[in-house]
Amino acid sequence: MDIIIETPRLVLRRFTEADAPLVYQLNSNPAVVKYIHEPALQNPEQAKEIIRDIILPQYRNNLGRWAIHTKENNEFIGWCGLKYLKASGETDLGYRLHQFAWGKGFATEAAKHTLDHGFIQLHLKAIMGKAHVDNTGSINVLQKIGMQFIKETVEDHCPLKVFMAANPNR
Ligand SMILES: CC(C)(COP(=O)(O)OP(=O)(O)OC[C@H]1O[C@@H](n2cnc3c(N)ncnc32)[C@H](O)[C@@H]1OP(=O)(O)O)[C@@H](O)C(=O)NCCC(=O)NCCS
Repeated sequence: MDIIIETPRLVLRRFTEADAPLVYQLNSNPAVVKYIHEPALQNPEQAKEIIRDIILPQYRNNLGRWAIHTKENNEFIGWCGLKYLKASGETDLGYRLHQFAWGKGFATEAAKHTLDHGFIQLHLKAIMGKAHVDNTGSINVLQKIGMQFIKETVEDHCPLKVFMAANPNR
């Protein structure tokens, strides 16, 4: 297993194409994709394409969305990670958890360690995060890990709040 980050309760590892069933289960729940500009997946083949075309290419830059497992029982609970946005040249922090894993502080724990990884190991200058204006759970996570609100914007007809953290070591 290609482990990238370890937190007190979680392990974050790289996805492989063999994880398509896990990504399919996560992305086929309408509640999980409610505030994300993506339709719920209809079949596991679509999940394989997401891993191959979107997730794996990010690993070339040591960035990427990483699968989260609990240390308690090795259960897959979702993903968290960093993504380079070609259009703006920014690095985005994102996360997506199964509904059964909400309300336990896992998102905040994974996101905080991912932010630190980006600053300490990858020496990134700044990391941003975006959330739908109504996605209060996600906005709370961005605030709890110390990101600052920058602005509201609209992307693909979605009203978003944009947050940012600057690397304190640079
Ligand atoms: C956004 C998302 C990750 C937030 O998940 P979450 O579980 O609400 O996030 P948190 O980690 O902040 O945990 C929430 C609560 O768990 C509670 N909690 C329980 N046990 C805890 C523990 N041991 N440590 C810390 N918090 C704990 C806390 O009360 C916390 O809420 P509070 O800080 O407001 O008091 C989740 O809703 C999700 O995956 N949504 C679908 C995908 C999505 O929208 N992604 C974001 C796109 S921008």
